[in-house]
Amino acid sequence: MDGENDNFHELLIGIDSQVDILDGRKVRSVNFDNAATTPPFKSVVENIINSSDYYGSIGRGMGQKAEITTQIYNQTRTYLLDFFNIKEKNKYIVVYVNNTTDGINKLARTLIHHRNEVVISTRMEHHSNDLPWRRQCNVDYIEVDNYGRLKTNELEKKLIHHKGKVKYVTITGASNVSGYMNDIHQIAKIVHKYNAKIIVDGAQLVPHVKIDIEGKCEEESIDFLVFSGHKLYAPFGGGVIIGLREVFDKNLPDNEGGGTVNLVMDKKVEYLMSPERTEAGTPNFFGTISIARALKQLNEIGFDNIHNNEIKLLDRLLDGLKVIPKVINYGDINNIEDRLGIGVFNIDSLYHQDVAQILAQKYGISVRQGWFCAHPYCRRLMNLSEKSNRTFIHKNNGKSPGMVRVSFGIYNDEREVDYFLNAIESIVHGPY
Ligand code: ALA
Repeated sequence: MDGENDNFHELLIGIDSQVDILDGRKVRSVNFDNAATTPPFKSVVENIINSSDYYGSIGRGMGQKAEITTQIYNQTRTYLLDFFNIKEKNKYIVVYVNNTTDGINKLARTLIHHRNEVVISTRMEHHSNDLPWRRQCNVDYIEVDNYGRLKTNELEKKLIHHKGKVKYVTITGASNVSGYMNDIHQIAKIVHKYNAKIIVDGAQLVPHVKIDIEGKCEEESIDFLVFSGHKLYAPFGGGVIIGLREVFDKNLPDNEGGGTVNLVMDKKVEYLMSPERTEAGTPNFFGTISIARALKQLNEIGFDNIHNNEIKLLDRLLDGLKVIPKVINYGDINNIEDRLGIGVFNIDSLYHQDVAQILAQKYGISVRQGWFCAHPYCRRLMNLSEKSNRTFIHKNNGKSPGMVRVSFGIYNDEREVDYFLNAIESIVHGPY
């Protein structure tokens, strides 16, 4: 099938690639797994190639190429501060990491000093915004309701309950499973009222919604935002933390190594200030410039266009799935204004992995299946107890409960959704 969203097609690489399917034909691949990773923008790849002519060591040498590379690297920090509309440039720093997982692990190691500290998180999180905190301290979780939306009213009760001992609340900007977006600025307001700081896992939100880190006023500002390049059309191993400078400066870096110190004596170490003190080792220049270039491209496309296209596709997808017999949808499929372009479902009596495999092998459609590195959340969405979860695994030779996920990118279009719905209908009616 041909794509119809031609404008955005031109901006990306690999959208029209042909893949082999079971009957020996080649078909145009349809990628509905953008919540996992996105294809690269052409402009991002061109930028990598063009910058390669003058690539040199960042912050470590006096050669012309080293100077040019260092200058571009530092300019990307300024670009990111501007992109997120940060006016108080000295208050925040940009720290480059490998991806969101790496960034949140870094924050957990940097910010938490005692096992008995308490961090508040939620049951909506990806494991990457749960397990790093569990490792360092105690985590108290805000629950989700039957539709999988966050019970935000629990936050204040928890902050009161912990009597001012909570220093950090860490929360996803948008779920990688249901696509619900949390009202991060309203949550920030509550967090700040109790003198805590807010960390936002922006892996899913940043590629789809323009975030104003400072919010409308100081109480609404986000203290730390973490996100990845590979979910915003810059899959070259880069990730970002934007966070409060004073917090990084007053904590020791989590990693030791080159580029972090002013002076190393025989028995003493003097660290540089942030961000350098917290970026040990040679930075990933190409990953970094890719993120800045991709954000620029997203800005040029316009976040309203991005959101409108994705919500239109979600609407069409859910309308279609609702009327196919045996399809079980999860989450709120009638009120979708607070959702990104992500849908999760099952086909009754079919194993999620088999559905995903048939979609790939028979139709050339890529989706993700399983519990999407968010087991506590998915178990709640499917209304399973931990016991019944274990029983399922036991009775089904180690197979795990799961769902099938469709997640849209800027380049997906309605014809692809219709092709997908026809495929699901054929699978439901069999034989497949
Ligand atoms: N977190 C990514 C996903 O949801 C990998 O697929």
